[in-house]
Amino acid sequence: FTVVLARRSGQEFTVEPGMTILETLLQNGISRNYSCTQGVCGTCETKVLEGEPDHRDWVLSDEKKASNSTMLICCSLSKSPRLVLDI
Ligand code: FES
Repeated sequence: FTVVLARRSGQEFTVEPGMTILETLLQNGISRNYSCTQGVCGTCETKVLEGEPDHRDWVLSDEKKASNSTMLICCSLSKSPRLVLDI
């Protein structure tokens, strides 16, 4: 799937199978705060502007997950072909 970085002029990156969004961004020189990389600490929480995340964290409440307004980019993936993030 593709991630689009809304605050970086819509820069786009493809998240390859087996990779996370966080790994993809870091590999491309986009620095993000993170700590556990396992969906438990909440450090990497990022606002979602468009698209449907595939939530795989232990941090967000069920309501927040259902709202699709935020996600943990170290572990969660995407159900939609494109995710627009507030980055
Ligand atoms: Fe800890 Fe993502 S880095 S939840």
